[in-house]
Amino acid sequence: MDNKAYTYSGEEIGHELADVPAADDGTKAGDIAVKIDDGPEGDAEKPTVVYIGLTREELLEYSDKTGWVVARWTILILLILGWFGILAGATYIMVSTPRCLPWWQTAVFYQVYPRSFKDSDNDGIGDMQGIEDKLDYFEDIGVQAVWMNPMYKTPGVDFGYDVSDYYEVDSTFGDMADFDRLLLTIKQRGMKVLLDYIPNHSSHHHAWFNESRLSVNNDYKSHYIWADPSCTGNPKDCPPNNWLSVWGGSAWEYEEDRNQFYLHQFLKEQPDLNWRNDDVKREFEEIMDFWLKKGVDGFRVSAVQHLLETEDYSKNELPNPEYEGNDTEEYNSLYHNLTKEYPGVHEIVQSWRSGEMDHYSTTGAYRFLTVEAHDSVDIVTSYYGVEREEANFPHNLNFLQIVDENGSGSGTRVKHHIDEWKEKMPEGSHPNFVLSNHDNSRIATRIGAGYARLCHVLLLTLPGSPTIYYGDELGMEDIEITQDILLDPAAKGDPAKSRDGARSPMQWTSERLAGFSNGSKTWLPVHPNYETVNVEVMEKDDQSILNLFKKLTSFRADEERVIPVGEMDYVIVNEDILSYTRAATLSGYNRYLVTMNFGRGGSTDDYFEQDDTLPIEGEVVISSHMDRNGDTVQLNKLFLQAGEALVIKI
Ligand code: NOJ
Ligand code: MG
Repeated sequence: MDNKAYTYSGEEIGHELADVPAADDGTKAGDIAVKIDDGPEGDAEKPTVVYIGLTREELLEYSDKTGWVVARWTILILLILGWFGILAGATYIMVSTPRCLPWWQTAVFYQVYPRSFKDSDNDGIGDMQGIEDKLDYFEDIGVQAVWMNPMYKTPGVDFGYDVSDYYEVDSTFGDMADFDRLLLTIKQRGMKVLLDYIPNHSSHHHAWFNESRLSVNNDYKSHYIWADPSCTGNPKDCPPNNWLSVWGGSAWEYEEDRNQFYLHQFLKEQPDLNWRNDDVKREFEEIMDFWLKKGVDGFRVSAVQHLLETEDYSKNELPNPEYEGNDTEEYNSLYHNLTKEYPGVHEIVQSWRSGEMDHYSTTGAYRFLTVEAHDSVDIVTSYYGVEREEANFPHNLNFLQIVDENGSGSGTRVKHHIDEWKEKMPEGSHPNFVLSNHDNSRIATRIGAGYARLCHVLLLTLPGSPTIYYGDELGMEDIEITQDILLDPAAKGDPAKSRDGARSPMQWTSERLAGFSNGSKTWLPVHPNYETVNVEVMEKDDQSILNLFKKLTSFRADEERVIPVGEMDYVIVNEDILSYTRAATLSGYNRYLVTMNFGRGGSTDDYFEQDDTLPIEGEVVISSHMDRNGDTVQLNKLFLQAGEALVIKI
């Protein structure tokens, strides 16, 4: 190291210091008070630098000078003001910066029915490898969360909703390694995975039921709901009470070994589990743990309303006063206050939310819960949780009713269903809208293919999170179900009641079997329209419904402060037209007018007159028929053809 001298002599520091008189010990200002030792002791060339500061009296003398006093106070006041300024600024930034939205509030949810999405092993049934082969497609169409219908081990009587092992994957779909790989690869692409959770009933082939049915003296004896015959004649003719299964007929099945009946609110192959038994609760917590630990992002709880029943099996259910038919076997003929929505069900959902679901939720990995409930909007929305949190949102299956029995929607009808949900959900909750699923006829079939595009515009511009059923993005329609191909056990042999129609294979290409399978046949027939209604053809057509869907999902993603969580105000609403504006709750974002014509003919309307916040013209950013994108339109005389919808930047 260079031993260069640091000579702070009085001269170098300045005249003022050098002129200060010497202190008592003979040193004077300008000599240094700090020794900078920069070399070995005794070094001949080592400099000694001496500096001495001002004495106390001198300092006091200086400090009382007006200039110094003013300077000191000025600095102090500036510091205090600065500190408050920083505090105010930080508070403003914290309050005004929009918080990151949770993934489940911005995601488009896509429902995959695994049997029907893509077959990789040519057995005519879709499987997990098939889904993995199509991951690019999820990204292409802009969905962020994939809900898979059950892929657990199952005899398949209710196509997977009869589970014989909740910890195993059914061989039809692959094995656990296939599942793990599928989960990983979906998540690597930043998408989320939801599974069905089926706590109300297991399969009659589940190991618990195999034990339970044997005797009244084993560890599983009360895993299910068992009740004695109600009379002493032939026990088979004496079910405990009049309860009916959702799909018709008695909800009780006689079991000779126990001389008792077991309850099944669905098929007799689906015995109801006993949710008053703590062992059952624990089993299901462990099942949840198992899948959450693997990295699954959430669940759709199936048939949640049926978890509990009265414990008094001598009670009959009363006739439903609203039932107009005369079929005493039909579920709707009774009023189900003893078997559905029975007190205690909500506490179970709360316990999952605050238990497993919260336990496995971490920053950046929030676990999501939704439930399936078929009831009035009042009851369904109660699954948001009234005092304690339950589902993030229940599936809004009531929204399917936007189409009436004649296959028509109308502006007023749709508005009613939007408002009903928004008004009844707890304040500050996040809505959800659904137009199709595996238990109902597809939207394009119910409303008519000519209105399927408009339905995309509706579903994807409403506030909240939409759930899309696979194939709906193509406008897929139900296949026709005849007696010879009928599979759905819920239909009880009546093709008209079958849910099979909405479960046909995904239409990928114009090739044989729509590119769904290379096998010889598929488990349900492919829709005959597959040569034109398929992904391959539609991807190439700029104006296809599929490209409309993609445009809408990317618009939603770009405008996440406006669409999923923004404000909505109606403009013109009548039998034909439904229109509303969408805007962010914060300033600095775009504003849009969305308008749809549900009518049977064209309609020209004056939106400008209706709403004085609207400009006289706007730019079409999305046209349902993909032929008016970029057009400037006059809002005082805007024409929409039947089934047409526009998203207009205003
Ligand atoms: C709800 C499912 O969505 C449906 O497909 C099933 O049949 C019932 N649960 C009964 O398991
Ligand atoms: Mg297969």
